Amino acid sequence: MPRFSVLFVCLGNICRSPTAEGIFKHKLDQTELSDLVFVDSAGTSAHHVGESPDPRAQEEAKRAGYDLSFIRSRQVRDVDFHEFDLIVAMDDSNYYNLQDLAPEPDYHEKIKLFLADFAPQLPKREVPDPYYGGKQGFVEVIELIEAASDGLIEHLRKLHQ
Ligand code: 4NP
Repeated sequence: MPRFSVLFVCLGNICRSPTAEGIFKHKLDQTELSDLVFVDSAGTSAHHVGESPDPRAQEEAKRAGYDLSFIRSRQVRDVDFHEFDLIVAMDDSNYYNLQDLAPEPDYHEKIKLFLADFAPQLPKREVPDPYYGGKQGFVEVIELIEAASDGLIEHLRKLHQ
């Protein structure tokens, strides 16, 4: 039974946060923590609710060995702030939107910035929005998320010890 829960959040929940959900779940499944952690993703906007991840995100993820096809976009809900232990934003804009959306200021401490908090060794502190760019943006999103997922797994290991 899961004892810890992580929600990844971007704007549309069709590019970055579903990629984070798919990659993090895949990596987690190879660890002793796999049954202990529940993972989900959501968007701060309702624009793409019900949609599958962007075909470009799915294609690049598949090429790298990750399946995103089971994911459907949903919007962040008030209850998420209560139910999830960690709410992980892909960029500053979504980080601040999450702070505004939090029903209580007490929930702010659950909100983290994925790269800055879990992969501080990387040259970037935000996962760039790939939506209006080309394929290379989606490849970069995968590389950044892979590194930060390893950092988040190490963080959860320390909590579990
Ligand atoms: P995401 O990317 O936040 O990583 O899912 C975007 C998806 C859609 C839009 C912007 C960013 N949009 O403007 O529709």
